[in-house]
Amino acid sequence: MQAKLEKNVILLAIATLITVSIGGLVQLVPLYTMESTIEKVDGVRPYSPLELAGRNIYVREGCYLCHSQMIRPFRDEVERYGHYSLAAESMYDHPFQWGSKRTGPDLARVGGKYSNDWHVAHLTDPRQVVPESIMPGYPFLVEKPLYFDDIAAHMETLRIVGTPYTDEQIANALADLRAQANPETVDPEAMQARYPKAVAADFDGKTMITEMDALVAYLQVMGTMVDTTSYQPNSDGR
Ligand code: HEC
Repeated sequence: MQAKLEKNVILLAIATLITVSIGGLVQLVPLYTMESTIEKVDGVRPYSPLELAGRNIYVREGCYLCHSQMIRPFRDEVERYGHYSLAAESMYDHPFQWGSKRTGPDLARVGGKYSNDWHVAHLTDPRQVVPESIMPGYPFLVEKPLYFDDIAAHMETLRIVGTPYTDEQIANALADLRAQANPETVDPEAMQARYPKAVAADFDGKTMITEMDALVAYLQVMGTMVDTTSYQPNSDGR
């Protein structure tokens, strides 16, 4: 049999194809029958409407070209950035922002690291707060009113691809967005009940809701949803 296979290239190709197919099926089929290939982790939730709008600006401006959002489980990374990233932490990111280049630092756990004012100053002109910075400034974000009339539609679209926004969250999208950006005039309590740990603030101090407000709301929630101090991986090592 072996000699036959080795001398007949067509037979060899067919036999190789069959062998590789069996190997592939053995790897793939169990993934489809498992309920979830991502371990559920407490605290992970879909983005609030303002955070989602901020995330869209992050993608639009190409922040991912210089910043990753994935802390690898290596000692140097964990010491610098904090607990390594969990798969569940980016499960509602469409598209994910893991990135492949770090001209600047990883941002997966930047939430809560700096004050809102620091972020506004930094994004307006990075050299104000980090003199040696080579990051470009985004001073226009604070001048541009945020366009958010279609935010509920964004959430509905994400629901189609699996982000579990509830009907209640979609119905309250506009109100929640305003409450998060103007906590002094609109009580953010209902919004925070729907989106625990969402940071509510008039981030840039302007009366209108700006693109800066949205981007900073997003940066401030990054990596804060899961309490990593009490996180224990499943015993099966996933
Ligand atoms: C050309 C590359 C580049 C781009 C594009 C860029 N950054 Fe940066 N970023 C850097 C560098 C370099 C630093 C480190 C120096 C500093 O803090 O300014 C940095 C630092 C940061 C920090 C501070 C991180 C920390 O842990 O200290 C934040 C937050 C940040 N950038 C957000 C953004 C956002 C949001 C965008 C998109 C609007 C963006 N960056 C676009 C290069 C970039």
